[in-house]
Amino acid sequence: MPPPYPSVRRVPPNVAASWLRQSWPLRILRGFLGATFVYAGMQKLADPNFLHPGTPDFIGSQLQAFAQGSPIHAFLPPFGHLPALTGVGIALLEMAIGLATLLGIAPMLSAALGFAVNLVLFLSATWHVHPYFLGSDSMYAIGWAAYFAGLVEIERTVRAVPVQGSRRRRAALQDEGFGRREFLRGAVVGVGTIVLGGSASALAGTSTGNRTALPRPAPSAQPGSSPKPASSTPIVHGTPIATLDNVPVGGAVGFNDPADGTPSVLVRLSDTRVAAFSRVCTHAGCLVQYDQSSRILVCPCHGAEFDPSRQAEPIAGPAPTALHPVPVAVDPATGKVVATD
Ligand code: FES
Repeated sequence: MPPPYPSVRRVPPNVAASWLRQSWPLRILRGFLGATFVYAGMQKLADPNFLHPGTPDFIGSQLQAFAQGSPIHAFLPPFGHLPALTGVGIALLEMAIGLATLLGIAPMLSAALGFAVNLVLFLSATWHVHPYFLGSDSMYAIGWAAYFAGLVEIERTVRAVPVQGSRRRRAALQDEGFGRREFLRGAVVGVGTIVLGGSASALAGTSTGNRTALPRPAPSAQPGSSPKPASSTPIVHGTPIATLDNVPVGGAVGFNDPADGTPSVLVRLSDTRVAAFSRVCTHAGCLVQYDQSSRILVCPCHGAEFDPSRQAEPIAGPAPTALHPVPVAVDPATGKVVATD
């Protein structure tokens, strides 16, 4: 059956009209989601640590942590190999989606992309947040879905009005293909994204570098610099991750778990005791840091604290469970700490 009305391309409304024709619930959603996405992208580029390896906020470390236990972990490693490109790409995409949403440019596509971004973040960055409503990405994904549904409703309403019976409808519809106005609007989003991204990068301060990062294990001591064990034949088998001499009592070093590459931390609890744990926070997957003055592991994201002398049980903050242990042992023959898995 032929459609009741001619098939024509609608000229998109200008910015003011795109706001005026929406109901208040949609305007609120649109303003909040659009502004938040612009801010989120700028905030990433303004963070001097975001693209700086060895810092807690480094996008590469975040991607590595997000992959742990994520239902989409198989898709994340390729992005982890190109962390800078991925980080900049995510930030620019967020800003472009936010700008397009605020300006009413390709609104349905922008809403769909916003939903996709937050769905991916929900399945990776905040997948471990418990209970789920403490994680923000699921809420944003639902917000985008609700906004998209509202846009579909408007579209259906506009299309239901007969062309011949409405001057406003006739004015709103023209068969002009991909027009000059659509091209200009796309250019506005592109230029706006680049300008905002460049401004945010220019505002970024100096990276905190390794000041807050855990030190990596030092190379083995040079001959003669410390007492040697009686025998150098290993009697504990595993992958060496540090030398006991290089970790003071109460100190810690970072390493990657040889079993799966997870960022981990080795803590020397006493002369003879060491313990190692995954640095992936059990709340939402940020990487914990070691606070040598209090001898606890602290999460920079929401303040969870873990006690390494008690199997890294949570002692403060929102983390529901202890950090994942990494089995380690000290080889008395070599003085090396080895991961025994
Ligand atoms: S990620 Fe929330 S406290 Fe660690």
